[in-house]
Parts: sequence; structure tokens; C-alpha cells
Amino acid sequence: VEDHNVFRQILLGTFIHSKSRTELEYMHNAAVAVNSHGTIAAVALGCDSLEDAKEKVLRETGWSDEEDDNDDEGEIHVYPNVGIFGKSTLLDWLAKYTFPLEASLSDLAKAKRVYTACVRRTLAHGTTTATYYATIDVPATNLLADLCLSLGQRAFVGRVCMDRADICPEFYRDASTQASLDATRKTIAHIDRIDPGYELISPILTPRFAPSCSDASMDGLTQLHKDRQIPVQTHISENKGELQLVKDLFPESSSYADVYDTHGLLTRKTVLAHGVHLSDAEASLIASRESKISHCPCSNSSLTSGEARVRWLWEKGIEVGLGTDMSGGYSPSILEAARQATLTSRHLAMQMQEGEDREKCKLSVEEALFLATRGGARCLGLADKIGGFEVGKQLDAQLITLGTVDENGLRAGEEESVHDAGNVDVFGWESWDEKVAKWLYNGDDRNTKKVWVKGRLVHSRR
Ligand code: GUN
Repeated sequence: VEDHNVFRQILLGTFIHSKSRTELEYMHNAAVAVNSHGTIAAVALGCDSLEDAKEKVLRETGWSDEEDDNDDEGEIHVYPNVGIFGKSTLLDWLAKYTFPLEASLSDLAKAKRVYTACVRRTLAHGTTTATYYATIDVPATNLLADLCLSLGQRAFVGRVCMDRADICPEFYRDASTQASLDATRKTIAHIDRIDPGYELISPILTPRFAPSCSDASMDGLTQLHKDRQIPVQTHISENKGELQLVKDLFPESSSYADVYDTHGLLTRKTVLAHGVHLSDAEASLIASRESKISHCPCSNSSLTSGEARVRWLWEKGIEVGLGTDMSGGYSPSILEAARQATLTSRHLAMQMQEGEDREKCKLSVEEALFLATRGGARCLGLADKIGGFEVGKQLDAQLITLGTVDENGLRAGEEESVHDAGNVDVFGWESWDEKVAKWLYNGDDRNTKKVWVKGRLVHSRR
């Protein structure tokens, strides 16, 4: 035993990961050996049996026999106001539900309850890495970082910057630009203390969105980014009312993306949430700066923001990941976000003329799972650390089981197992592609039996 509860372990079974945007790789009769730092030390695949695969990794690692998938990313805010958006759209939703809720988390007892539930729930749904917009409150934000570390979720934790007095409500804004930057530095210093190498927890600079930030605070954050190479997250082009607000507040800027760019906030370490209504010129600018987009389809449908064009973003050369955007999105499940990504792409298809373009819009199962796994890892600069079962990568993975039914169409055993294995019935004739598609469209947290982050078992279910 070396790191926090991480043992040397050998996992056996069928491993599935996203090999590329269009391809899932199935590794049957495979073994993955994970060392006590949570790093994959050997992978054996294509063996005749699980025993052979185990023997092979034991030989490769030189370990003696001892006792003894897929990782997911997502953008998350706080979560107690899930599903209560009603008919609101972004700006009135922020004012009515989100700002009051976030402000209330300066009560640390409440923040502890909310954040613990949020981290545990997202882990149970298989989110191994999260980027969090916490709150403007430093102790609450730092508490979230502590909880992610102790519960074992890889996380980018952002103290939300909101210093613009004509936009942010008095009950929920930074006292001044200086106070805002100082508060952000305090959270960075806290994370420096609890996880000095940013092994699991990293700070992320979080100008909430252009309207909430003064020019000086955006400039100050850019300076911090330059000094410390700390990544940046913000929102962009989510909703038409927001676009008009940005136009009114920044009349000298040629576009929303230009506001961030002129402040130096578009970098290759910037993750922009939504990007629903971007123009061609904005997408080209974002691509040229190598900034990334976090696609949040549940949220974009719930708040009637619109449909982000993932295929178009890819064609522009922009990396895209996937976010639940809880609570704009109603679900803590990254699997739900992946399935909504496929449905949103189908709505885009329905808006097009019949023919090739229509088909092209549609995202496949493979592409949706890529967004949720390796695509997200790339957006967060973690592509060489996580995202697949490869030697040298850390083990961030989940164990999925499906409900296998017998010749009478019944699940093995008692009533209970029907519930335990969720809604996915496997009849035995399905190909692996079909099994995975069934999981994407019908699966839920009941199918997620174990979740590992950096080799540590962070969630398990009977
Ligand atoms: N834009 C500014 N703040 C927010 C937020 O909290 N959620 C979403 N979805 N968009 C935002």
C-alpha cells in the first residue's frame, strides 16, 4: 500500500475504451495491472482466457500472484436546484434560482451537505473527473476541494469570480476587483497546500462569464494564468439574451469570443462551456487559440438555450468534451449527458435539408462516449494521464454490469437483481457494439458497480 487506499491490483474482464472519436476498442479476455500509485503497469489483451491474461501481466510486471471501464469527465456547478428550472431561460434562471442557492453555500454546514452529496452522486454515476464552478465564497470553495480529495474524485475546483456591480446582485458579488483576485489566490493557495503536485485536485480560474466580470478582473485572472499556468473555465454563447447582454456591455468587442480574447483569456488551457450560438469567425478564433468547448446538451435543452453543433466544432478543429452542467442540466449522470448529446445532434439533423448533411450531423454511440471520456481528458490537458487503458496511464475506470436474461426472458435469480442491474436487458444475441448502445440509451447508476480514480476504489455498489 502506498497512496491513499491504493493497492497493487490486477483487473480481469472485457475492457472497453474510446480509441478514437469514431472507434471503441473492445479488449476481451484482458488483464490490466495497476501499481500502488494507481498507474497502469501492464495490459494483456487478445488472450485465450482470463487466466492467460493474468499470467501475462504477472510475467510482464514481475509481480507475484496476489489477491486481488472507462472514465468520464464533466462540468458541474452545484446541484440542489436540479430540475426546477420551470420555464426560465439562462438569465432569469441565474437570478431566480442559481445566485441565491450559491450565495446560501457560505453556510459551511449547508455547503458540506450539498457538496458531499454532489461528489458522491457524480462518482456513483461514473464521473471520475469533474470541473467545478463552486461559489464566490472561499471557505465553501476550499471545502469542495477538500471533499473531492478525501472522496477521491479528480477535480478542477474554481472559485467563481463575480465583481461586476451593475450585473451581479448585491447579495452575491465580490466586494471589489481586488477582493475578487485575492479570494481566487486564496483558493489556489489552499489547493497548493492540500495537493501540492495537483495530482488529483487542481485550481481552475473561473470568471463566471464575461457579464459578471470587470475588465480589470479578467486582466488580473489572465496574469494569474500566465504566472502559474492555471487553467481557465468560463461560459460562452449559451443563450440569445446573454449574447445581447454581452453586446451591450462590451460594445467595442467584435464578438463574445473577442471579449475573452482581448483580455487574454482564450488559451489552450481554457475550457468554454456551451458555445451554442458561436459564429464562424468565433469558432475560428477559438480554434486558433486551441481553447476547448464543454458541450452541455441536458442544460441547453432544459434552459431552451439551443443546440451546440459538435460536428461543426470538430470540423473547425476544436476539441470538445461533455458536461452535465448540473444544475442547468437536470441530471448528475454523464451517461445521460452522452445520450442527450446524440439526441441534440438528431434535432440538428431534423433542422437540415434531407440528404447527406442531415446524416452527418448525427453523433454515433462511439462519438458520444468519446466526448464523455478521451475527449474530455484532451480538453483538460490530461490526455497523457487518463482516457484509456494504456500502460503509463492512471486507472480511472468504471465496472459496468448489464442484466443478462435467461431463455424465458427473465433475469437470473430473484426480483432484486432486476432492480440491481438497471434497465439494460441483454438477451445473448447482441454484439458488443449493441450491448454498449443499450447501455448508453438505457443504462444508469445501477449498472455502475465500481468506480476507480487513480487506482483507488471510490465507489462500489452491491
Ligand atoms: N452562465 C453564467 N453562469 C452560469 C451558470 O451557472 N450556468 C450556466 N449554465 N450558464 C451560466
